[in-house]
This record gives sequence, C-alpha cells and structure tokens, in this order.
Amino acid sequence: MKIAQVEKIGEDFKLEIKEVSKPKISMDEVLVKVKSIALNPVDLKLMTNKSISLILKEEDFPWIPCFDICGIVEESTCDEFKVGAHVIGMINFPKPAGACSEYIVVKPNEISLINDNVSFDDGAGINLVGLTTLQVFEDGNLKKDDRILILGASGGVGHIAVQLAKKVGAYVIGVCSSKNKEFVKGLGADEVVCYDTDDISKVQDIDLVMDCVGVSTLDDSLKTLTAGGKFVSILINLKKIKPECGVDSSVVIVKSNKEQLNYLAKCLNNNSIKVEIAKKYSFDEVNDAFMCLGSGKNRGKIIINL
Ligand SMILES: NC(=O)c1ccc[n+]([C@@H]2O[C@H](COP(=O)([O-])OP(=O)(O)OC[C@H]3O[C@@H](n4cnc5c(N)ncnc54)[C@H](OP(=O)(O)O)[C@@H]3O)[C@@H](O)[C@H]2O)c1
Repeated sequence: MKIAQVEKIGEDFKLEIKEVSKPKISMDEVLVKVKSIALNPVDLKLMTNKSISLILKEEDFPWIPCFDICGIVEESTCDEFKVGAHVIGMINFPKPAGACSEYIVVKPNEISLINDNVSFDDGAGINLVGLTTLQVFEDGNLKKDDRILILGASGGVGHIAVQLAKKVGAYVIGVCSSKNKEFVKGLGADEVVCYDTDDISKVQDIDLVMDCVGVSTLDDSLKTLTAGGKFVSILINLKKIKPECGVDSSVVIVKSNKEQLNYLAKCLNNNSIKVEIAKKYSFDEVNDAFMCLGSGKNRGKIIINL
C-alpha cells in the first residue's frame, strides 16, 4: 500500500510517497481502506515544528501526517464495525498521526459509522473541525439564544462552527474577509462582520467569542463580550489575556470523543451540516495539497482522494 511521509523535520518539508506492506490488525482493532483524507493546519505545524506544545522530535521522523479520514472497513475484530461499513474518524491525535495512507489501523473508539450515501470527502472533512467546535461550545457553555461571535467563520473550523452553533439555537455572528461574506451568510449566520471593512469592536453583548484566528482580532473581539461572557480560543500560542481585562478565557485543544463523533456522523447522515471543500487533490499531488493548506486563505477543507 502507499503512504506519504516526511523524512525530516523543518520548514522545507517534502512528502515522499512510499510502498509499504499493508498493516495487520489485532484484537479490538479495525483496518480501514481510506477513501478521503482531510488536511488541517496542525499537520503543517507538526512537520515544521511551528507549534511548541505539539512539537515532534527528530526521532519521530520519518512521520506520516494527517488525522482525518473517511473510508471503508476492510477487516474488523469488533461487532460494531462490519466489513464494508463506511466510517469517519480523527485518528491518533495529536502526535502519532499516520492517516496519509491507503489503509490505517484504528481503535473502535476513534471511528463512527456513516450512511453509504454520505460523500467520503464530507466524512473526512468533518472530524477534527467538528470535534474542536463541539468542545469549544462545551467549554464556553453555549446555550440556546446565546450570542456567539465566531472569528474565522469561513475557515475549516469556523464554517462548521457557524452551522453547529445554529443547531444549538444560538444567535451567530461570523467574522471573515469581505470576499467570504455571502458564503458565511449562506451557512446560516445571523450577521457577518468583515474584518477588512467593518469594526469588530462595534458588535456588543456577546456571550461567547470563539477564536479560530489569533492575535490579529483578539483586542477588538474582547470588547464585544457582555459581563460574564467568555473568550475561548483554539490557538494554543495565543498571547495571554491579561487578568486585569477581567475576561474569562480559555484555550481548547481538541481530543478524541466518540459521543461527539457520533453526533457529527448523525449530522452528515441527516444532511443537516454541509462541509465546504476548498480543493481536492489526488494522492500523488500530496505536496501540492500541503502547499495549498499553507496559504491559510482557504474557504473550507482541503481533501486528498484515494
Ligand atoms: N486547538 C485546537 O484543537 C485546534 C483545532 C483546529 C484548528 N486549530 C487551529 O485553528 C486555526 C484555524 O484552523 P482552520 O482549520 O479553521 O484553518 P483555515 O481553514 O486555514 O481557516 C483560517 C481562516 O481564517 C480566516 N482569517 C484569516 N485572517 C482572519 C482575520 N483577521 N479575521 C477573521 N478571519 C480570518 C481566513 O478566512 P478569510 O479568507 O475569510 O480571511 C481562513 O478561512 C489554525 O491555526 C489551526 O491550527 C486548533
């Protein structure tokens, strides 16, 4: 089977495609034939060592990137997952990775079943971003009728967050560039604020700021919070919010969660969430796919098809 791996750590990474033998499963494991892989900025951060707390060591290389998959069960030792079933999952997060591969061995608690008519690309694209969103909502205690400000609403995480926040019954204000205004509105946002033309700090009475961007929008977004409101970031290198601001803030780092993954699978099955695909690549174009991810200006997810 084919894998794509990075030989050594550094800015000038290059993925090499290699032929290796197909892995074997043990008890309580599932072998998945991968049909689509979704890329995430964390894949790049790990291979270029840009994120201090997720750092990989030299001895972790060669390293196979990617966590998000959708595929078909090829072999199984678990009753829950029969051969031929379609599954989604965020595998091995955050360090071992290994999903940039034709087949992957997974634990049953990291995958969920989806209907056969769900597209493999949507199935791959939902995992890490959907779990991140649900964990931010949990941390920020998002409730019906709360006002949420989502920074980076057109990105991989943000466009799913807009849709999931509407399902909670929140009033959603998305922040993105003006070129993506109509897109974010189309996702169901009640209001869209464009960071290149509008003043974010004019938004008021926000119960939860969900930050998927980082420092550039931090100060303005803090001014939007209501008394008792919360700021939750997914950027782990975010500069510390000073205690004198009096803002309740936290950083969420996504974790595997079967119950939440099942919920995301249900949303795909009943077609109540739409995954925006920014661009698709073949496995042989894996380096181009990562170059595209590196631009940081994609609307939705970048997918590799096998
Ligand atoms: N902590 C965690 O567990 C976790 C999980 C997932 C992701 N992350 C991190 O969160 C970040 C976002 O991830 P992602 O997958 O959504 O990335 P992405 O798909 O690359 O999206 C980034 C989006 O940010 C928008 N953007 C850029 N500058 C902005 C600004 N000043 N204000 C508002 N939006 C702006 C861009 O939209 P426009 O073109 O409209 O500007 C772009 O669509 C990454 O750094 C990623 O590593 C962390």
